[in-house]
Amino acid sequence: MSEQNNPTQHVEDARLAFAREFERFANLTANGSVLSLSEAEAEQRAIADLRTRHAGKKSAIAACKKLIGRVAPEERAAFGQLVQRRAAEISQAIDTAELKLKSIIEAARTTRDRIDVTIPGRRPRPGHLHPITLMRQRIEDIFVSLGYIVEDDREIETDFYNFDALNIPEGHPARDPQDTFYTTEGFALRSQTSTVQIHAMQRRGAPVRMIAPGRVFRRDTPDPTHNPMFYQVEGLCVDRGITMAHLKGTLAEFVHRLFGPETRTRFRPSYFPFTEPSAEVDYSCFNCGGKGCRICKQSGWIELGGSGMVHPNVLRAANVDPEEFTGFAFGLGIDRTCARIYQLDDIRLLFENDVRFLEQFR
Ligand code: FA5
Repeated sequence: MSEQNNPTQHVEDARLAFAREFERFANLTANGSVLSLSEAEAEQRAIADLRTRHAGKKSAIAACKKLIGRVAPEERAAFGQLVQRRAAEISQAIDTAELKLKSIIEAARTTRDRIDVTIPGRRPRPGHLHPITLMRQRIEDIFVSLGYIVEDDREIETDFYNFDALNIPEGHPARDPQDTFYTTEGFALRSQTSTVQIHAMQRRGAPVRMIAPGRVFRRDTPDPTHNPMFYQVEGLCVDRGITMAHLKGTLAEFVHRLFGPETRTRFRPSYFPFTEPSAEVDYSCFNCGGKGCRICKQSGWIELGGSGMVHPNVLRAANVDPEEFTGFAFGLGIDRTCARIYQLDDIRLLFENDVRFLEQFR
């Protein structure tokens, strides 16, 4: 028999070919723990492939098994045993490496998925309402309990709603202090919530009782009491027989509920084109009760906003008959009221978005 046809040599070739490829898995069995999870998973796929090629039906050792019947009868038993032994060694080596890989993978997965229940949890930091929103809600609650509805309306307006319908025709000097931001298409950001008086009357007719909180915009330079964007709340009450007494009574009740029953109101004559007569409303300082302190700048009084009896021209602009209906209106600045209540020196703090400041208002 030549080397080529020597069946024992075939078995030895098969063993050597396997041993060469298996070498790296043999090492792995020794120090496999250095493998990462993905490397171990790749090795697991490689060893499955190795099993197919070296222990499968088409492997060299399987071919040797077919030779058993062809060797001389006196050598058959010994040859058969040799083939079986080599085949068993190959399978066992693969089994051992596979088992080792499996345990490496399991250990790596356990490490990856481990949860340390002793680590302190991360506390969620729930948000909270902005001080302006808190103030707005307090104001809304009071007026809703007095029978008012809350209107929400647009911030972008035409000249008609921001000025003309409010009895401020073009060229009227009252437009100047309320100069605002304009778009090129003839729209403007509303400079006062009084615009909602017109929308509400057009939409609902008379009688109507509504408040309209919202954002307004003016070309004001920021300082401790001014912002170019701030919040107002408008109030409007239109019905038959409404008088100045209703206006005074309503705002007196409002400040009682907001600052306490001992709070007094004061009406100073003023001018707004859309009310006649008009008045500025002040309330006695909630801190000193009117004696004079730092909060009220020693005057004993704090300004609440503007007010007055709705001008007949405004009722007409909103298709309400001034012969049948009268009404009062008022407009309060929310930011400044908020600053007074929380004793802030500067209303700009409200919009700086400094979390350390805002977190005080939980
Ligand atoms: C008005 O805007 C009138 N529409 C109020 C009114 C309504 C009068 C209905 C009569 C009837 P005035 O310009 O005074 O009025 O503004 C009202 C309030 O807005 C002020 O009292 C003040 O609290 C606030 N305010 C005005 N300008 C600013 C500003 N730049 N920053 C913050 N608050 C402001």
